[in-house]
Amino acid sequence: MRKVPISMLEPEMSLGKSIYNGDSLLLRRGIANLHRYINKLTELDIGHVYIDDEISEGIEVHDAISEDTRNKCKTALSTTFAHVLENDPNKNAIDIEELSDVVDVMIAEILSQPNIVISLQDIGSSRDETLLHSVNSTVYGLVLANRIGINTVAMRDLAQGLLLHDIGKVLLDQEILYKSVALTREEFDHIKQHTKLGYEILKKDPVLTEMTRRVALDHHERLDGSGYAGSRGDELNLLVRISSIVDAYEALTVNRCYRKGYTPSKAADILTADAVDKLDAELLGRFFQCIAIYPNGSLLKLSNGKYAAVKEQNTGVPFRPVIRMIEIEGGKQVAGEEINLAHTLNITVVEDDPDLIANLIKDEMARTKEN
Ligand SMILES: [Fe+2]
Ligand SMILES: [Fe+2]
Repeated sequence: MRKVPISMLEPEMSLGKSIYNGDSLLLRRGIANLHRYINKLTELDIGHVYIDDEISEGIEVHDAISEDTRNKCKTALSTTFAHVLENDPNKNAIDIEELSDVVDVMIAEILSQPNIVISLQDIGSSRDETLLHSVNSTVYGLVLANRIGINTVAMRDLAQGLLLHDIGKVLLDQEILYKSVALTREEFDHIKQHTKLGYEILKKDPVLTEMTRRVALDHHERLDGSGYAGSRGDELNLLVRISSIVDAYEALTVNRCYRKGYTPSKAADILTADAVDKLDAELLGRFFQCIAIYPNGSLLKLSNGKYAAVKEQNTGVPFRPVIRMIEIEGGKQVAGEEINLAHTLNITVVEDDPDLIANLIKDEMARTKEN
C-alpha cells in the first residue's frame, strides 16, 4: 500500500488500511471507488489515505503494533478521557486494569520486532487529536525505549505515562484547544495548565508510579529550562526525556487545526535544530533510527525530474531508500522500475511534500491525457 492525498484518489485505487473515527470503523480496507468518499473524508479533516493500486503492489508499510491492539488502546483511552470529564469524586477516572492489559500487549508486540523502522502514520479525524496523538506517541516511545534497552518495568511506566501525558487537556476549554488562529498570551497560559492538571488526575490513582506521573507533568520541560515550568537538565528523568522527543515529533508530523503536518524529514530537521539545547541529542539520534525519514509508501520527487513511491528502507542509510518509479502515460500513473538509491548515487530526493507532489503528478496526468 501507499499513502496519497485524497485529491489524488482515482477509481482504480482501493483502500489499503481501514479508517476509524475514534474507535469505530468508518471505511473498511478494500473499498473501491474511493473518490465517492472525498467529501466525507474532507468533512472529517482526513487529508491522506493509504491505498492499494498497481504502483503500491508489494509495498509494506510497517506498524509497530497490530491494528487490533491500536483499536483496543484507543477504546481504553477514550473511556478514560470520558471518565475524567464526568469528574465523579467517588470514582477513579483511570481504569488501570484495562490500560495495563493493553500496555502489556503493546510492549510484547514491540519487543517481538526489535529492529523495526516505523513507516506507518495512523490516520484519523482531527477531532480525535488528543487520542491519536497519545497512542502514536506511546508507540514511538516504546520503540525507542526498546532500541536503547530499557527494562520492561520502566517500559510499562513509560507507556502508561505517554498514554496519559495529555489527559489534562480533557479539562481545558476545548474551543481554545482547537483554535485555528494564533493564541493570546492568556489562552496559551490556559493550554499550559494541562501538564499540572494531568499530574493531579494521575496522582489520584494509587497504582500509577511517580515516574509515570512525571511524564504528564514534565513532557513540555526542556533541558535548558525553556519549558513550561522551567525545570532543567538533571531534574528531567530518562522517561521524561524520551517523552519530550516523541511528543514533539508526533505533534509536528500531524495536521493541526492551525497548520499542515510536516513530513518526517522536515520534522527531523526541526527537532535536530532544537536538540542543541533543549532535547537529549543522543536519545534523538537513536530515535531517528526507529522512524523512516522517507516512510514506505510515501511520494518523492527526484533530481531527474521524475516521481516515485518509497518501497523499502536501507538499514543505516535513511535518506536513500529503495523506490519504485511512477511513470505517467496517457493520463495515468503506472509502475516503473525499482531503483535502490543506496546504489544509484546520481539520483537524489528533491521533494517529499505529498500535497505538492500530488499536484505536480496531476498536472502531468492532465498534460499526457491531452496529447
Ligand atoms: Fe502536552
Ligand atoms: Fe502531547
